[in-house]
Amino acid sequence: MQKKIAVILGDGIGPEVTQQSIKVLDAVSRQFNHQFFYEYGLMGAMAIDKTGNSLPDETLEVCHRSDAILSGATAHPRYDNPSAHVSPEHGLLKLRKELGLFANIRPITSYAPLHHLSPLKSNRIEGVDFIIFRELTGGIYFGKKHLNEDQTQASDDCVYQKDEIARIAHLAFSYAKRRKKVLTLVDKANVLETSRLWRKVVQEIAAQYPDVTVNYLFVNNAAMQIIINPKQFDVILTENMFGDIISDEAGVITGSIGLLPSASVGNKRALFEPVHGSYPQAAGKNIANPNGSILSAAMMLDHFGLSEEAELVREAVMWNLANGFVTKDIDPINNYSTATIGDLISDYVENRIPSRMNKENMVISKSTII
Ligand code: IPM
Ligand code: MG
Repeated sequence: MQKKIAVILGDGIGPEVTQQSIKVLDAVSRQFNHQFFYEYGLMGAMAIDKTGNSLPDETLEVCHRSDAILSGATAHPRYDNPSAHVSPEHGLLKLRKELGLFANIRPITSYAPLHHLSPLKSNRIEGVDFIIFRELTGGIYFGKKHLNEDQTQASDDCVYQKDEIARIAHLAFSYAKRRKKVLTLVDKANVLETSRLWRKVVQEIAAQYPDVTVNYLFVNNAAMQIIINPKQFDVILTENMFGDIISDEAGVITGSIGLLPSASVGNKRALFEPVHGSYPQAAGKNIANPNGSILSAAMMLDHFGLSEEAELVREAVMWNLANGFVTKDIDPINNYSTATIGDLISDYVENRIPSRMNKENMVISKSTII
């Protein structure tokens, strides 16, 4: 298979973790006889520095002519000025809108070797496995914004069209159908008109998926349930702002945000990026966890229909975790570098039986704090 992949390296640790994904994708292409072609584009703080624009037209073109986009986090504190008209975040929001990436998909999976890192007790997170579908191109993020002249009143409109709700609802139902067949709509239908529309549209669509059980949960209750009993969820469907908040909340319960992948998909385009931020303090230090990016690349392989390849990459990540080949965020005492984790996963993909991977001959790339 031949695929064109647009790569946005991003800011902070973005470049070094994304490079590990490319390493792993190259191992996949050698092992399974595929050809992946990479074309690079700038976005975020790096793009502002070089072009004055957080999403240059050239990057958009690169993305438009690709089969998928692999991205690192884009943000940097030097642009953390809320009144600035150019910011790395603007670039990301514009990219989502321009490419029509209406659904953000975040799987939340608990990994047994990381249970001790979770803020929740192990018995609450064992077996947690759900997916959040967050609407990504509508709602309060993209509604009309207003600030009055004397800057004493501001508003952000939250608008949803029936079609915008229906398209992501169908996607979420189609996943639920293939999973545990439970879909939870998270809204605030006791207060918000937009939420009432979401409920109505989801109720209508539910009739087309009779084998899927639908639950409705107010967002404040959902925030509690994710902590109290995260195992109850299978597929969560929600609007843009609520999705931003609960997906970060859900992201921390499994132990490490450094491990979480995401996909943002539209009808024609799809972008894959880790959930974590750009962590500028760690940039260039070779200590960042590349697994979130590598698992995002695995989601990209699934998107290409390469499920065996995707499964092998996930198996490799699991093998590393189970055998203690982890970065500093997971084990502050015995840890391995970003690049070493990328090498180990690539090796696993190509050689399956990781005979030469044992802790004893890994000392060179291991950093031990004594
Ligand atoms: C995310 C981020 C973005 C969002 C920011 C960076 C604009 O938090 O991808 O979840 O709020 O959508
Ligand atoms: Mg967010």
